[in-house]
Amino acid sequence: MTLKVAVAAVLPESVQQLLSRQLEATFFPELVGSPDKLVECIDGYDAVIISLPAQITDSVMARLPESVKIVATYSVGLDHIDLSAAQARGLVVLNTPDVLTDAVADTTLLLMLGAARRVTESIALIRERRWEGWRPTQLLGSSLTNKTLGVLGMGRIGQAIADRARAFGMQISYHNRSRLSEDKEQGAKYFADKEAFLNQLDMLVLACGLTEQTRGWLNRQTIAMMKDSAMVVNIGRGDLIDDESLIEALSSNQLRAAGLDVFSNEPDINPAYYDLPNVFMLPHIGSSTIETREQMAQILVDGIVQVSNGQRPVNQV
Ligand code: DGY
Repeated sequence: MTLKVAVAAVLPESVQQLLSRQLEATFFPELVGSPDKLVECIDGYDAVIISLPAQITDSVMARLPESVKIVATYSVGLDHIDLSAAQARGLVVLNTPDVLTDAVADTTLLLMLGAARRVTESIALIRERRWEGWRPTQLLGSSLTNKTLGVLGMGRIGQAIADRARAFGMQISYHNRSRLSEDKEQGAKYFADKEAFLNQLDMLVLACGLTEQTRGWLNRQTIAMMKDSAMVVNIGRGDLIDDESLIEALSSNQLRAAGLDVFSNEPDINPAYYDLPNVFMLPHIGSSTIETREQMAQILVDGIVQVSNGQRPVNQV
């Protein structure tokens, strides 16, 4: 039996081909950001693949046709889906864990280096043709070697970031809901207490999901717990940070620098970020490699097929 799947995502050509080979896929690229309209077009479909910026709210969920049993999101993040509404309605939700871990961890190191080594100012200097040649005093950044990295959210991605940071000679500490087993910690130091965690860090990486508990986690109070020279990297979700507080801390050099791949209200981000030389910014490209995009599609296909065969896939939320 070929499964009928509605795909409300704009995808690379090779990913569309992959989906079309394995499913009876119909593409609705024009409805990516309009789940309200999408629900009216997908009666008779078994599953729907959605992606950001769609928000699958309680009311969207309530209007999904009866035939749709699976909502598969082309992301690891789940904050755009009302999971309790999905559960109440008996819908299976699938996401794309694991397959994007390495790409996202790589991007995190890029953000860490971008912030620590003043890459925004360096690029401006050379591109604006203001560079006057090598100087011993020019654009002095901060080394990562022998510094302490703090990971908020030591899940799969947090652990992959820690692996890479160890190769840079960093010490790792982490703050999580619970302590990891020793084999997962790999020597990383667990801090149950937020303040004790924050006040010994040189670099904080936000790598957790966005929930009501983590929204605005980095704010005036938590920033005040950090060292003056510390740096912040956000690879999770923009809303983990209270922008006003971070912008104030970066403007006054209370914090040294930030590396940000995600923002509140993307793509209409807080404009103050554009003018801060100590912010290294990327446009949410954490998982953007072609290999990763294909693997994200494959894990959704496998999950959809397994659910329809009565199995529980690894990526069922
Ligand atoms: C993810 O996979 O969560 C990416 O951030 C895109 O939403």
